[in-house]
Amino acid sequence: MAKGRVNMGRIDRLLAEMTLEEKLGQLSMSAAEFAVTGPTSAQGIAESIRAGRAGGLLNIWGGERTRAMQRLALEESRLGIPLLIGFDVLHGHKTIFPIPLAEAATFAPLLWERTARVAAEEAACDGVNMTFAPMLDVARDPRWGRIAESPGEDPWVAARFAEAKVRGFQSSDLAAVDAIAATAKHFCAYGAVLAGRDYAPVDVSERLLREVYLPPFAAAVAAGCAAVMPGFNDVNGVPMTAHVDLLRDWLRQESGFEGVVISDYNAIAELMTQGVAVDLAEAASLALTAGVDIDMMSGAYLCGLPAALSRGLVGMDQIDLAVGRVLALKERLGLFEDPYRRGSQNALVASRRGLRRDLARDVARRAIVLLANDGVLPLARDLRKIALIGPLADAAAEMLGPWPGAGQAGDCVTIRQALTEALPEAEILYEPAVGIDDRDASGVAAALRFCRDADVVLLCLGESAHMSGEAASRAKPGLPGIQNDLARAVLALDRPVVAIIGSGRPLILPDLVEKAQATLATWFLGSEAGHAIVDVLTGAFNPVGRLPVTWPHDVGQIPINFSVRQTGRPADSGAPYASKYIDMPTEPLFPFGHGLSYSCFIVASLHAEPECFRPDDEISIAAEVSNLGPFAGEETLFLFVRDPIASVARPLLELKGVAKIALAPGESGILRFPLPARSLCFLGADLAPRFEPGEFRFFVGPSADPAHLACVTLRALSD
Ligand code: BGC
Repeated sequence: MAKGRVNMGRIDRLLAEMTLEEKLGQLSMSAAEFAVTGPTSAQGIAESIRAGRAGGLLNIWGGERTRAMQRLALEESRLGIPLLIGFDVLHGHKTIFPIPLAEAATFAPLLWERTARVAAEEAACDGVNMTFAPMLDVARDPRWGRIAESPGEDPWVAARFAEAKVRGFQSSDLAAVDAIAATAKHFCAYGAVLAGRDYAPVDVSERLLREVYLPPFAAAVAAGCAAVMPGFNDVNGVPMTAHVDLLRDWLRQESGFEGVVISDYNAIAELMTQGVAVDLAEAASLALTAGVDIDMMSGAYLCGLPAALSRGLVGMDQIDLAVGRVLALKERLGLFEDPYRRGSQNALVASRRGLRRDLARDVARRAIVLLANDGVLPLARDLRKIALIGPLADAAAEMLGPWPGAGQAGDCVTIRQALTEALPEAEILYEPAVGIDDRDASGVAAALRFCRDADVVLLCLGESAHMSGEAASRAKPGLPGIQNDLARAVLALDRPVVAIIGSGRPLILPDLVEKAQATLATWFLGSEAGHAIVDVLTGAFNPVGRLPVTWPHDVGQIPINFSVRQTGRPADSGAPYASKYIDMPTEPLFPFGHGLSYSCFIVASLHAEPECFRPDDEISIAAEVSNLGPFAGEETLFLFVRDPIASVARPLLELKGVAKIALAPGESGILRFPLPARSLCFLGADLAPRFEPGEFRFFVGPSADPAHLACVTLRALSD
């Protein structure tokens, strides 16, 4: 757990002095006047703080504003307890980094940590002391808009993402002036909402929970995450906000989480709508009993817990326990020692703006995935005329993505701006042609004229930022509006076309990838989006991004992910009665891990030892990689494992490691994957961990595509 000084004497003293209302105030967080999701009254908030009815605020930032609120709490409330000030710093505070799904595509834990560190520095400088991030929902359904906020489909990746983000936000000392409390959310299995519809119910087996949805949260807890937020969803009929088995038994008891559990926005009151509580008193007692310490925005604790107490639904000891945890977090954050330390305009942070922009550019270009390329990229140096077409070519606000924090559109570099900067000699013929999501085709004719005239067409298509994120599920996650018509018309001209796809999810792109000469997935890349995209287009940066999610051909393949169990009738068995579709391939359009480079890498050889291993051994796997291409570049290789025969059927591929190597043209190098043999344990039929002797296959390759995996077999011996 990140360090932090907890003065238990002060906590006990405060608890002894507090009225019930003041205790419930510590358990309540309200949106300040600058609410994102709806207006609240500034006057009302000030009164609540004075009366000790608000222990925390959310959706407020800025040195002056946060200091004013802290001053009210310290100087005008009876007990002078400082406030938690929470904000969603999902992918940057003022300097906006790529959306989490895009950042995951870098497969670079050190970068994940650095962006969180920088975001924490900026947010802390703005008076924020807690963030509702990282979002750790494993997501396998591109219809679900919140896939944009997630690290993708794989639990191993999500667990590494969790550790890196917690370290980045909290640093090694939570009381540090530039550290903020991290909140692992949304606990858990929110990514499995029915049919990809946000807030919908979730039905998952306990195996799936333990193998897929819980490991990222276990990793966050082990990394010392200060807070956890249950999701809006239910799991197998029990709303997460009231889920005793998961919140209390798994999170607190099994995982040893000692921090604060904070509800999602209004989620405690929604227990009534979800059909498990008749009134606020019941809702509040269910949440408190499950271990939810802070009520975000529903007022259920303030209004419902007094009645719940008098009805005997909860005891004062439960309330005291929750208040104690909240005060302990305030202690660990150093708020009692100096509540104003965050929020002082820190000249150092201001002076590092250039470094933060450099980091934003680097992570953004590393997040770009070159999906397909027939050689048109990198762009030739002697291009005279470039047609820059499409609604995302010059759309600063969209580059921010769906959770832009305190980021400003005016600070974002668009593709058009960056292209003009990078290629001053070229003539850029710019025409958006169509809106992102409307049916006005009046610009199409001009766009086609430009395309006919150009040496290359850059076709910038995709979603608007708010078509992904919360409450942005799409039953048809393709190009919105009439962008497909525009694409068809442009592609019919027979000019070289580079499709640049901005989105918060894998989009269904019928024909486009096949017909365009190159396609880039550029997600929402943040403040430096334009520079990053142009760096890749021109070859100033050789692409390294890899898909953290499987990219389907069509909606009918969803949910889709690489790590699935073998069926008795595999699709490739050739048998007529096989596990396949009769109207489309079972394979995705692009597998997990896919992403091209301007270089050409091969795995020349693969070695693993020892040939026979026991549970306490360390397995060592080494792949020799060569760069056969004309450019220096970086290769990413994935290590997958298959346990072909076990007492419980295991997935065909399970991710166990990722490694990278930078190689000059013609150069070779070795990538090593150290693997404790114990990590090959799996949950038996009784869900207890087991290590079973027998053959294990280790696969190394550039993606989860079986056609490109090198394999070596080792044997496990019993203990
Ligand atoms: C979202 C959370 C977020 C909270 C506060 C909710 O609607 O589900 O992810 O942290 O709002 O903004």
